[in-house]
Amino acid sequence: MQDKIASLKSKKEEALLGGGKKRIDDQHKKGKLTARERIHFLLDEGSFEEIGMLVTHRATDFGLAKEKYLGDGVVTGYGKINGRLVYVFSQDFTVFGGSLSETHAEKICRIMDMAMQNGAPVIGMNDSGGARIQEGVVSLGGYADIFYRNTLASGVIPQISAIMGPCAGGAVYSPAITDFIMMVENTSYMFVTGPNVVKTVTHEEVTSEELGGASTHSTKSGVTHFSCANEIECINNIKKLFSYMPSNCEDLPPRLKYEEGNETRTELNNIIPANPNQPYDIREVINNVVDGDTFLEVHKNFAENIVVGFARIGGRSIGVVANQPMFLAGVLDNHSSTKAARFVRFCDCFNIPLLVFEDVPGFLPGTGQEWNAIITNGAKLLYAFREATVPRITVITRKAYGGAYDVMNSKHIGADMNYAWPSAEIAVMGAKGAAEIIFKKEISKAENPADKWKEKEQEYNELFANPYKAAEHGFIDEVIEPSETRSKLIKAFKMLENKAVKLPKKKHGIYRCRNSYFFKKLFCFSFHLNILRK
Ligand code: HXC
Repeated sequence: MQDKIASLKSKKEEALLGGGKKRIDDQHKKGKLTARERIHFLLDEGSFEEIGMLVTHRATDFGLAKEKYLGDGVVTGYGKINGRLVYVFSQDFTVFGGSLSETHAEKICRIMDMAMQNGAPVIGMNDSGGARIQEGVVSLGGYADIFYRNTLASGVIPQISAIMGPCAGGAVYSPAITDFIMMVENTSYMFVTGPNVVKTVTHEEVTSEELGGASTHSTKSGVTHFSCANEIECINNIKKLFSYMPSNCEDLPPRLKYEEGNETRTELNNIIPANPNQPYDIREVINNVVDGDTFLEVHKNFAENIVVGFARIGGRSIGVVANQPMFLAGVLDNHSSTKAARFVRFCDCFNIPLLVFEDVPGFLPGTGQEWNAIITNGAKLLYAFREATVPRITVITRKAYGGAYDVMNSKHIGADMNYAWPSAEIAVMGAKGAAEIIFKKEISKAENPADKWKEKEQEYNELFANPYKAAEHGFIDEVIEPSETRSKLIKAFKMLENKAVKLPKKKHGIYRCRNSYFFKKLFCFSFHLNILRK
């Protein structure tokens, strides 16, 4: 037996070395951690249980029969983050550049199947040269098997992707289907076609970093939700992000202990400038309302005219969506609408209540917007809010104009509680434009048209640039002092904690990008079956 145990130990030691010491050193020289080091920093100490450590590829072409590495370029298993079960895979660049073979794909699929069956998230750490070139179509099939599972798992269990090296070609579509992507600055990139192909086809000269680095995807394309200075920051972000989520769609997000105290925030009374055209930072409002420094902004540098992120209020996990007057006056446009719609859908899938701060002058005009489908994209946000069955509360801090008033979680599309600050202006449009349209004749006939215009503008302002008309109609439940906001929200979210809403039965709506009713039921069935078995 002793010699057999020794042989097992030696195999395990070999597996731990991946592609060997030299390649590990090369990985470190690039400023990157190895696949195992990443898992070590991600999971609670001693909690990792590896699955498939001794798997090797089955390929024989191009001399591969003689070149095998235990684990075949991906470390897979399960462990805990702050005591909560997660499944992980971490691609090992030291083995064939982390490229995906048939068996490498099978290992990832196994983890995903177990995660679905047991109702826990999958965290994937990607560092790969793409399809294992020597394996051809078998490798492509492996990718498709992963995409298939990503799609089934969407809306059922959280899926988080960290890009910590190359991720190119069709390989990008697995992270793209997952809920959140994190990228590490300067050492990771994602693109469908690399710089060489780009040069051949479009004659553009571009580096990998410019084409698909973290900064590009966090500012220009919005593909990545977080851009991280280094791998440790990336791993810490994964842990923080997961702390706001439940383990699956049937579960509730973890709730932290919270003791009620003085919830009045007088600072909030001084944030809105006297001049309605002057910007202010909506993050100041958010940070004054939520618990401590719990606000974790998602998509921070993309479509900055809307702010989205997770936070806690009274210990409860919430998703925050807020117009940002500091950027483009907080208008809704193509990017901000799709950014917020996807975030709302995520929160709804995973039972995370929504808090909306509204200060929106309307939708951004122009050909750039119309030709890029602001009609379709604006509708996505409206659709996402309407469809969300989690508790939903809106606070109008200032402007709520036009269609954007309806879209931003208005009472009419199903918000549970709608508050407004006394500074709210709820109207079809701003007073200047409104006066110009409805008093056009009167103004043109006046002795002094400019004075008349001002007079009519003031008249319109007095009538509509306030929250009271909307409150008269019951569209606003209460006009509150800003300083009371936190206290009102804590009580309202508590009041709504058992909210139950049934939507009409359907397979799925057309904008819906989460899992279909059928697959959700299928998962719930197998999930409960599993609980029964235990
Ligand atoms: C097999 C690969 C590989 C691959 C890298 N290697 N990519 N082996 N299949 N796809 C191996 C290399 O041979 C090398 O082996 C080791 O990994 C490290 O690679 P280097 O080139 O030395 O590293 P580096 O200079 O850092 O460059 C990394 C790289 C480059 C940019 C990823 O290797 C590269 O361009 N690889 C090919 C990428 C690619 O075209 N993949 C297919 C994309 S199409 P040794 O033995 O020297 O350590 C695709 C389709 C998916 O993925 C479709 C899904 C639907």
